[in-house]
Amino acid sequence: MLTEKKGGRIILSAGSQQEVDDWIAAIRKVQGTEKSAVVEEPAPAHPTGQGVPESKRHAEAAVESPAEGKRAKMSIADFDIHKVLGRGKFGKVLLCSQKSTGKTYAIKVIKKHEDSKSTESQILRSIRHPFIVALHYAFQGTERLFLVMEYVNGGELYFHVSNFGRFSEERVRFYGAEILLAVQCLHGKGVIYRDMKLENILLDKDGHVKITDFGLSKQEDDDDDSDTSVVGTLEYLAPEVIIGLKNSAAVDWWAYGVVLFEMLCGFHPFYSEDREEIRDNILKAKIEYPNHVSANARDLIGRLLERSPKKRLGTGGGQEVQGHPFFASVDFVKLFNKQIEPPFKPELVRAVSI
Ligand SMILES: Nc1ncnc2c1ncn2[C@@H]1O[C@H](COP(=O)(O)OP(=O)(O)OP(=O)(O)O)[C@@H](O)[C@H]1O
Ligand SMILES: [Mg+2]
Repeated sequence: MLTEKKGGRIILSAGSQQEVDDWIAAIRKVQGTEKSAVVEEPAPAHPTGQGVPESKRHAEAAVESPAEGKRAKMSIADFDIHKVLGRGKFGKVLLCSQKSTGKTYAIKVIKKHEDSKSTESQILRSIRHPFIVALHYAFQGTERLFLVMEYVNGGELYFHVSNFGRFSEERVRFYGAEILLAVQCLHGKGVIYRDMKLENILLDKDGHVKITDFGLSKQEDDDDDSDTSVVGTLEYLAPEVIIGLKNSAAVDWWAYGVVLFEMLCGFHPFYSEDREEIRDNILKAKIEYPNHVSANARDLIGRLLERSPKKRLGTGGGQEVQGHPFFASVDFVKLFNKQIEPPFKPELVRAVSI
């Protein structure tokens, strides 16, 4: 095989038809004619979700895929599996390292017949945000779908709230503001998260928030019957979901209010051992705050736990929530850029036990 460069082109000269065929086959192979396993990086979101000049948006969209993202067929055999990080209704999340690079990832393994699960991969592919877990690769076997995510190793907020009893108001402000930016980004992309709860909010090694688990999320404009479906975890369901009205982005602001309450108080606002009673409490119970909760925090949570979705804070956009006096001291642009020191650095879960 002889090669010669002419202008920008490379000319290959073969000695026989067989050699030509062999080269075409080899090139097709490296081009990856199989389903791509690589997730192109979308443009990063903007903290306020608006006001980004068109020129800047284009510049951001030009972010390059990571070097590791070379097109290649990938399978679970390319990873060493270390342990199970979490189990859920539809699958499990495994701590793995990639054999070729030694890099650690969390791989969510989902049984394929769960229709909603391909939505999880689509949604994660379309989002890149500092406070939302990043998807690096997605591939499928005959029965399962594999989502290769960044490994977030600071533990679930659920664990930390249980550990500390409750968080200081400063700490709730920090996590609350980061979660708020993540929700705003999702809603800006027309995604309703639908599974906001302490178990799905992780801390990274520095103590920043990362939202995971898009298994129940949906695109808002998917106008089908599932709009009225009861989807989510009972304790976090908005009243309109319980009574079977249309799900809208407002359900996330309700659940966000529940999460803020739990972080501040260390217990659930509608708690009961009886599931029927939880439903009743969500629909009717007066919310009681412990004495230590400030007037601003009560006001914010009260407006988020507004039973009418039309009147609920956030329904007019995340800016409404950012503008609440509880967040008056937060510089959201600095926060988005991770220029605000987290209030707590987690003790890291050792990545791989050796
Ligand atoms: N990227 C990640 N890094 C570290 N741990 C993770 C990551 N993603 C998930 N986990 C852990 O695994 C647990 C289960 O993951 P996830 O919430 O995505 O699945 P699930 O609850 O089973 O999903 P579903 O509700 O769709 O059935 C999480 O609560 C978290 O503790
Ligand atoms: Mg989960």
